[in-house]
Amino acid sequence: MSGGDRTATQALSLPSLRLCAAADLEERGRAWVWDVLEYGRPARAFVLRFDGQLRAYMNRCVHVPTEMDWQPGEFLDIDKRVILCSIHGAAYEPRDGRCVGGPCGRGRLTPVAVAERDGWVHWYPSRDIQPVPLEAPASESPA
Ligand code: FES
Repeated sequence: MSGGDRTATQALSLPSLRLCAAADLEERGRAWVWDVLEYGRPARAFVLRFDGQLRAYMNRCVHVPTEMDWQPGEFLDIDKRVILCSIHGAAYEPRDGRCVGGPCGRGRLTPVAVAERDGWVHWYPSRDIQPVPLEAPASESPA
């Protein structure tokens, strides 16, 4: 379990959703990015493997609330040591999402609870971060 201990613990009692094969996430490689609803609004989250552990966060920089990957699923810097925001270069520690350089100040990425099980990566929706419904609700027809 990773992505923040408190969130992970809270999420344990909730059902998980399968994201991708565990083998799809190579060490310090491309992240898996997926759509979620955060507080009911469309957003994206990502999970990558770092030092053998899954690390998952909302794809939103603390500096300005925008997505950070410089290519789809590419979050790590060239040395693959930090998560680097492509906009102004904020650097985050992959192990805990803490800002370690650049304009993110004392901020921290929002963790998402994930786990590796039976060869698959699962994520755990929370009260605030929910899956996108498979089908949008049908709009009401005018009377
Ligand atoms: S938006 Fe990420 S560093 Fe400015």
